[in-house]
Formats: sequence, structure tokens, C-alpha cells
Amino acid sequence: MILVDVERVAMSRPGRPLFADLSFTVSSGDRLGVVGLNGCGKSTLLAVLTGEVEPEAGVVRRGRDVRIAALAQRPELPAGRVLAAVEGHAEQAWEAAAVLDHLGMAALADADTGRLSGGQAKRVALARTLVADSDLLVLDEPTNHLDIDAIAWLEERLAAHRGGLVLVTHDRHLLDRVTTRVLELDRGKGYVHDGGYDVYLEGRAEREERAAAAESTRRILARKELAWLRRGAPARTRKPKARIEAATTIVESRAEPPARQGIPDLWFGTPRLGDKVVELHDVGYAHPGGPPLFEGVELLVDNRERLGLVGPNGAGKSTLLDLVAGRREPTTGTVVTGPTVRVGYYDQVGAALDPAQRVRDAVTGGHRQPDWQDAALLESFWFDTDAQWAPIGLLSGGERRRLQLLMVLAAKPNVLLLDEPTNDLDIDTLRVLEEFLDDWPGALVVVSHDRAFLERTVTDVVVMDGVARPGRRAGGYAAWETERRANRARGRATSAAPKPTPPPSSGRRAKAGTDQPAPGPRSPSTLRHLMKDADKEVVRLGKRRVALEQALAEKAGTADHTELTALGAELTEVLAALDAAEERWLALAEEAEDAAREGARHRR
Ligand SMILES: Nc1ncnc2c1ncn2[C@@H]1O[C@H](COP(=O)(O)OP(=O)(O)OP(=O)(O)O)[C@@H](O)[C@H]1O
Ligand SMILES: [Mg+2]
Repeated sequence: MILVDVERVAMSRPGRPLFADLSFTVSSGDRLGVVGLNGCGKSTLLAVLTGEVEPEAGVVRRGRDVRIAALAQRPELPAGRVLAAVEGHAEQAWEAAAVLDHLGMAALADADTGRLSGGQAKRVALARTLVADSDLLVLDEPTNHLDIDAIAWLEERLAAHRGGLVLVTHDRHLLDRVTTRVLELDRGKGYVHDGGYDVYLEGRAEREERAAAAESTRRILARKELAWLRRGAPARTRKPKARIEAATTIVESRAEPPARQGIPDLWFGTPRLGDKVVELHDVGYAHPGGPPLFEGVELLVDNRERLGLVGPNGAGKSTLLDLVAGRREPTTGTVVTGPTVRVGYYDQVGAALDPAQRVRDAVTGGHRQPDWQDAALLESFWFDTDAQWAPIGLLSGGERRRLQLLMVLAAKPNVLLLDEPTNDLDIDTLRVLEEFLDDWPGALVVVSHDRAFLERTVTDVVVMDGVARPGRRAGGYAAWETERRANRARGRATSAAPKPTPPPSSGRRAKAGTDQPAPGPRSPSTLRHLMKDADKEVVRLGKRRVALEQALAEKAGTADHTELTALGAELTEVLAALDAAEERWLALAEEAEDAAREGARHRR
């Protein structure tokens, strides 16, 4: 049964087309992957598909009574409790709790949706989409912020999905396992590949080769024509001139360059890194008043380190990375950092960006006029002239993350810490990044759930499963995965061991970097009171944020600089205040949770 038929649709953005003349259909049983560079219009296409926006040209026909469930790249949740938000959407209520559990959100089932970090909200929204009774599932980057087990579960669930599926993802394993067709968006055109990820890669390589071959034939012919014309030119002066010009143009013109070149050696000015990098001795960390997240960690980071930190959500990976970075102090043990170390930290949230600021001003930190070198840097990171002048608020999800990555690399670190670097980045960017890291001379520590990325970038892993003491295992991701499978087969899966409840805010905490001095134990009622206050503050700031973002979007086209700047400045302040209020709420929630756990232990 045909679920959606898209015929010759077109969409554009101010000043440039995104895609045109795009046609394809999705039937029941189809699992269509959508791939293309960041900013090429994938999310826009999904919005057209679901009917959220009307195409500028062409038609979209949806089958009668076809029910669509969609997950946005940056989803919004209804107010209220997490569980209720999911149940409200579910065909069967019991499924809601089960799916939340699979996605690592069981501990927060009773939390208020307004309090969740971006990653947590995305997981809840995914649960909500999955439990809905739908004929067509439309998912935009569903694996962001999911840990390896949750991704594996999602993979199975999607592979067994009977309706139609349209999936935008940068996760190559997921694409490989799940999709039956791939729609590739490339410079405004759509190419459908009948088959999975491998068929797409083959088809694309073939197309590129064909284009290159056609181009070289064309040039050889033109060169011959030119030689012939030049030889005979004196006798036939009039007509040949135009022909000579035409042929010259062909010979001199360059074939359309590939959509992207690799990251050039621009940053091989990496400052020398001495032998002593970072050493962790008997390190432990606990949140004020809470149980230890981990203890007794011994870790020597080498100056050509390629290390991955793996484990489920909430096990403390970001916290350990913070300790390596010196962003926070261990509660026990010592962290020694070598004198030559220059840390570059690409975290889950990314540097705070001012949505009103232009991309070109962001790279200079806004402190000076961007010069040609900044422009070259941006260009090499695929921000063309148009994009350099665009306000950050208009960037797509992946473009924003790419800008943040550029800002980290541009500071020329020699120790690079990456926390879930692959989220939202497109597959081509990931490949280039992997290649870049391969040659990069510094030390690298990566937290990631992206198997393909881990396989290609790290040689050793530290496993943080919340059970065993985190320690280095040689052999990288593949070795760990094999070991895990074997364990499971023997029925000794690590999950059989008692697992500490994952703390609700691992993602957020990483960003805070500073901890409040440990308060004395507070009574449950005081805590409830404080939480309610923090809650109100978050709601108030959230509303202000929405209003400001709307105002900015409306004004974006106008040239009223002063107003834009003022709005942007206020938004920056509101976002910072909102972050702080959320942190406060999360810290209180953790304290309350710890208190409850402590209480339960005493009662036993
Ligand atoms: N309101 C807007 N006004 C102008 N341009 C916009 C607006 N919203 C998005 N864009 C631009 O449109 C382009 C396509 O955006 P879209 O979100 O569809 O890309 P995408 O393929 O989903 O990217 P990603 O892989 O990063 O998620 C981007 O370059 C973005 O900057
Ligand atoms: Mg998108």
C-alpha cells in the first residue's frame, strides 16, 4: 500500500534552492533512509513529507487514513510527567513504561518534561513516537543521545517494523541494518538507491566515477576541436572564433568539484605535547551527598593516545572526561596534568552560541574583525560565503555542531576530548573527521555510542558500566563488543549484576563544570519546596526564550541591526539563566533522589 507519494517537490531557503523536482514514494514495508550533507534539507524534506509544511512546488499525496508518527530533530514535549507524555500517545499503556526503560529513561518516568536536558527530552520524544499506533514512522536522528544497548534495541525494533519508515540518521550501523532503500540528497537533486547502505555507497561512487569519466571525455573532445580549429583558423576567420571560444571555455572550465574537500592541514600547527599528558591516580567521583559514580580509577593518557570511553547512559563517562580536562576536581585521588597540555573539549552541548551572531564572528569570538584567514578556515570547514554571513540561529542541527567543532579545533589543542561527537554530523563529515583524527598528532579521548566511529578512531577502550571498576582494555571497541557478546551467551551479562540507578542528568552535569559546595542534608520538604521554586523559574525563562526566538526569526530578514543585536543579547542571557536554573533543578532532584535512596537503605 502506498503511504506517501511525493511528486516533483521543491523547497528553498532565502537566496538558495534546497532541492527541486524531487519524487519518490513510500509504501508499507519500505524502510527509507535519507542521507545528505548537513544543511542539505533533510529535516525540511521530512516536514514536507509529514505535511507540517507545504512544498513550494509539487504535490505530496498521503494515503487516506494513513497515520504518521514523527520524531523531530529537536523535539518539543507536552508539559507534564514523562510517563504521561508517552502513555498519552500509546495504544497500550504498558508499552510506554517498557519503551522508556529500553531507552534508559525509566528513572525519570515521573520527572516533569520541562526539566529534561536536551538529550533526555529527545529520548522521551522517541519513546512517544515509537509507541504511537502508526502506519508511517518518520524519525530525524533518533540515535542521538542513545547508548549502545538502546541503539541495538532500536535497531531491532525498526528492523521488525511492519509499516513504512523514513529515517534520517548519521549512524552507519543503523542505516546498514535497517534500511531497504536510501534517498540521497546531493546538491539539490535526489537519488534513490534500491538497497541498503552498501548499495547507496556503491551507487554514489559509480555516479561520481561516471561524472568524472564523462567530464574527461568531454575535455578530450574539446581539446581536439580546439587544435583543429586553431590550425585551420586563418582561412575561416568568422565562424570559428565563436567555436574556438566555446571549445576554450570547455577546456579551461573545471569539472564541478566534489561537494566537499577534506579538512586541510590548516591546524597542523598543533603545539608539541610532552611525554607527561594526564595521569589519574586512584580517582573517584561522587556528587555532593551522593554515592560514588566510580572509584579507584587508574589511567595514564599517552601523548598519542586513542582512547574510547564506553558504557550506558548515566555511568559517568562525561564526568570522567571532565576530570581529565581539569574541568572538575575528583572527590578522591589525584589528577596530574603535564605542563605542555592544551585541552580542546568538544562537549555534548557545545560552546554556547549566540543565535544572533553571524557565523564569521563566532570564529573570532567576536573580539575582532574576521580576516581572510578566518574566512579560509570557515571555507575549509564547508561554510561558504553565504553561510559565513548567516546568523547562527538559522543553522541546521548539524551545521551548528560543525561550527562548534571548528571552534574547538581552531584553538589548536594537543589533547582533544570529544563527548558524543557524532550526534547530528553527516556521514561525509564523520568520514573526514575520522581521517583527520587518524593523522592528528595529539592525544585523543572519545566518549561515543557510535560503533562505526569508535571502530575507526580508538585503539583502547575504558568500559564504564557502573559495576566494575573502570579500566583500560586493549583492542578497542571491537574487542570489547566480542567479550560482551561472549559474556551474554554465557548468561553472565553485566546487566545481571546490580546496577546503580543511573543519575538523571549525566549529560547536563558535564556542562556545568562547577559544583556547588556540598550542602548539608536537607529535609525532603525543604527539597520539594526548592524544586518547586526552581521549576517555576525554568518555566518562566522557557517562555521568554520561545518569545525571543520567535521575534528573532521574524526579524531575521530585516536589516535592523540594533534590534537584532539587542534581541540576541537578551536571548543569550535567558539561555544562560535557563541553563543555570535547569542545573539547579537537576542538582536538587539528584539530592532528593539520593535522600530517598538513603532513606530506603535505613528502613531496610
Ligand atoms: N527559518 C529558516 N530560514 C532560513 N534558512 C533556514 C531556516 N531554517 C533552516 N534554514 C536553512 O535551511 C537549510 C536546510 O535545513 P535542514 O534543517 O532541512 O537541513 P538538514 O539536511 O536537516 O541538516 P542537518 O543534517 O544538519 O540536520 C540549512 O542550511 C539551514 O541553515
Ligand atoms: Mg536535520
